[in-house]
Order: sequence, then structure tokens, then C-alpha cells
Amino acid sequence: MGHLITLENVNKTYTMGEERLHVLKDICLEVEQGEYVTILGPSGSGKSTLMNIIGCMDTLDSGTYDFDGEAVHTFSDSQMTLLRNQKIGFIFQKYHLIPQYTALQNIIMPLLLRGMTRREAIETAKESIHLVGLSERMMHRPSELSGGQQQRVAIARALVTRPALLLADEPTGALDSATGKEILKLFKQLNDSGNTIIMITHDVNVARSSQRILAISDGQIQ
Ligand SMILES: Nc1ncnc2c1ncn2[C@@H]1O[C@H](COP(=O)(O)OP(=O)(O)OP(=O)(O)O)[C@@H](O)[C@H]1O
Ligand SMILES: [Mg+2]
Repeated sequence: MGHLITLENVNKTYTMGEERLHVLKDICLEVEQGEYVTILGPSGSGKSTLMNIIGCMDTLDSGTYDFDGEAVHTFSDSQMTLLRNQKIGFIFQKYHLIPQYTALQNIIMPLLLRGMTRREAIETAKESIHLVGLSERMMHRPSELSGGQQQRVAIARALVTRPALLLADEPTGALDSATGKEILKLFKQLNDSGNTIIMITHDVNVARSSQRILAISDGQIQ
């Protein structure tokens, strides 16, 4: 066990014409392997910007970012893409499933992209589908599933490659509160079985389901 993630004095500024917007201000944070952390903050506080940096989807202006012993702030775009594909599973508010594909086809996708055979991919995917409790629905398309079930498919897809980090941006944001609670229960189970999770939310009740809350406001961690 050790730090999976260390950010030190991370700054991010957006420039729009003449205007400079200092969105992340000297962010320092550490996340250990096996932790379940939420980043809580109001709209515009910089949560998605921070998530994009943690998820290796955006670069920082200054500071350092270490992920699993690698100095991400020194990485090229292609190195970042590789790290992202190999080590991070993403979960979004709106599921981002491919509508023409069944649940199973959506879930095997990341494995096929890594060169796994279809047969192996299906075997591996079945384990993730079982973990999220959707074995009965794996031949259904997203339009034939409820919002909560679609989010379970998205979680199974994020898990199927056994990433070092699960990164979720408002995963319950599109769900009613009862369904949202079931998804949070699933996150808790996944964390209990060893998955490291970082979740972004503006909802303090959602944040309370995690082990540790990092509050962000106006680009600063409190
Ligand atoms: N690509 C961009 N170019 C310019 N400004 C941006 C860009 N992305 C975000 N911003 C600005 O940076 C600030 C933080 O945005 P961010 O999306 O990180 O907030 P957030 O906490 O995720 O908000 P929300 O809860 O509404 O999703 C906002 O003022 C936003 O307008
Ligand atoms: Mg956001």
C-alpha cells in the first residue's frame, strides 16, 4: 500500500481572449491505494477541471502529479493516453453507453480494444456483470434498461479492465434518490473489495457515503 495519487501545488488557468481564469489554485492532495474519496464542491468550483487532470485528460500549468509512481506532469499526450487507458476506469453522470450495443457488447469493448479474443473478453466481462448484479440483463440494449441499470453497465465497463482507479463524475446525478443510493451501495462494495475510488459530487449527502471528503471551493481544497 502507498500513495496511488499525489498532487502538489497544482495550478490550472484558462485563458479566454484577454481574460485569465485561475481555476485550480495550488491544489495538494493524496489518495492512497484502496481509498474511497469524494471531491465535494459547488458548481464552478473546479471539480471537473480537477477530475480531468487526475484522469489524465488534461495537463496542468504548474505543480506535480504522480500516479502509481509515475510523474504524469512530465508525460506527452500519448503517454497520458496510454496511462489513462491502462489504469483508469471512468464513470459519468450520463453513462455514455453505445446505444446499438447490448450491455455485454458495451462491457467487452475495452477488452477487445486491448486485443483480447472475443471468447476471453466475454468470460471476463461476465464477472464484472455479476459484480454489478446485472447477469440477467446482459443481452439488453441501453434503451431497454432503467437509468440505474445503465449506470451499472457503465460501472461494469469501467471495472472490466481492473483499473488502479475508478473515477466517477456525478455518477448519481441523473438518478432518482433511491436508485442513486443503490449505486452508492455498489461503490461501497467495490471499495470493500479493494477498488480505489474517487468520486466527484456537489451533493453532501452523496459525499457522506465515502470514507473521506475533500471539499473544493473556488479552486482550492479546504
Ligand atoms: N475549457 C474551459 N475554458 C474556459 N473556462 C473553463 C473551461 N472549463 C471550465 N472552465 C471554467 O472553470 C471553472 C471551473 O469549471 P469546472 O467545470 O471545473 O467546475 P465544476 O466544479 O465541475 O462545476 P459543475 O458542478 O457545474 O460541473 C468555471 O468557472 C468554468 O467556467
Ligand atoms: Mg463539473
